[in-house]
Amino acid sequence: MSEKAWGGRFEEETNTFFEEFTESISFDHVLAPFDLKLNLAYAEALKEIGILTEEEFDIVKKGISELIEEYEKGKLSFKKEYEDVHMNIERLLYEKVGELAYKIHTGKSRNDQVATDLRMYLMEKRKELKKRLIEFMESLVSKAEEYFGVVMPGFTHLQHAQPVLFSHWLMAYYEMMRLHLERLEDFKKRLSLCPLGSAAFAGSGFPINRKKLARTLGFSDIILNSVYAVSSRDFVLEFAFILSLIMLDLSRLAEEMVFWMSEEFSFIELPDKFCSGSSIMPQKKNPDAAELTRGKAAVVIGNLFQLLALIKNLPLSYNRDLQEDKPPIFSAIHQTLACLKMMTLLVSGLKVKKERMEKFLKTGYLLATEVADYLVLKGVPFRKAHHITGKIVLYAEKQGKALEELKLEEFKKFSELFEKDIYKWLTVEHALKRRKVAGGTAPSQVKKAISRAKKELKNWRG
Ligand code: ARG
Repeated sequence: MSEKAWGGRFEEETNTFFEEFTESISFDHVLAPFDLKLNLAYAEALKEIGILTEEEFDIVKKGISELIEEYEKGKLSFKKEYEDVHMNIERLLYEKVGELAYKIHTGKSRNDQVATDLRMYLMEKRKELKKRLIEFMESLVSKAEEYFGVVMPGFTHLQHAQPVLFSHWLMAYYEMMRLHLERLEDFKKRLSLCPLGSAAFAGSGFPINRKKLARTLGFSDIILNSVYAVSSRDFVLEFAFILSLIMLDLSRLAEEMVFWMSEEFSFIELPDKFCSGSSIMPQKKNPDAAELTRGKAAVVIGNLFQLLALIKNLPLSYNRDLQEDKPPIFSAIHQTLACLKMMTLLVSGLKVKKERMEKFLKTGYLLATEVADYLVLKGVPFRKAHHITGKIVLYAEKQGKALEELKLEEFKKFSELFEKDIYKWLTVEHALKRRKVAGGTAPSQVKKAISRAKKELKNWRG
């Protein structure tokens, strides 16, 4: 049994089950490098106000530097009886520098320390996520370029709707990710505020230079209210929300991949190396990676809900409940990074079955809107043009014919305004080309979107 940091006012030894129940070192050990960095910067701040002498600071600095090195080599061992990362590091430092390890706790609390460590950790993870997001976006743009010109039936209500470039469909996911990247960028200014110096919640009793400390630790500014600083996990929630949004969109792409690979669609092929078979049905090739991405989206959304529920009704300031913020946010980050990587591999590896996709352009009356638009240009109000076209589709359907198979006289039965040029309108090329409005599926616009994306990605990378 180890002596507790707070042991002074206690007459009984801590119960071992209680110890198991309350420990967090089993998961917050990932904060160790940040906690070490924090302690070093804090020791320097204490030196500046005369709490540590120059010599004492040098000893502490040497001790912490050694611990950082040992951590990097995987040599630090943490113990559950020391509860959390902060107490473990204090003990490890004590083994090196003796009571100076206790001295550096002057005017700081684990409450401002954990909030600071967690923000530092998330600042790193935010950067990692940005990188993964950019890699994923690059895979989308490359695929859009590779299959530029391939046309697919676009869907609404999962029913064939209008022809669209496959690249345009893919670039929709690029656009979603671009906005997530912007969200991550905006989030940075709220994340990089430093709580340290808030101590337990009332503010440190020692006049440390908070601004300087914040800058040393890589923050852009300090948190202005000490109670808020230790009570709030809004930054964790915001991160989890952005991760959830990313996962929602990945799950939609994953879902599309799953049905695109089904026998019924057969729009794409995924590489064997990213699929698995069945233990009973020898013919099976399953899109497990896409299915798991869909499934893991549920985990991340669950993590967000765990966090929301954790904060609800929590009185100010610090409460031990807040320790439970770590497992869900660590999980959400881990899953999202993994799914981004997996989806990058899937997108890069997928092959489009062009003939199969284009086969569906001939059925399903995908060009009906063209007929209505044609009439509009001849002066018919759109609602009426829509109605007339509806009648034509019904007629064609009963004849078992495609629109372009109807004779001009048949068209004329529905409106005298039809002329020979209607057949030009009933081609996929014409339908695509007409959609040259900004953001439309006209090849000229999609080309622009792809080159814009490439420039953007270059900037993000730079
Ligand atoms: N392990 C704790 C957490 O993650 C650190 C803060 C503990 N503070 C306290 N007063 N017990 O929240």
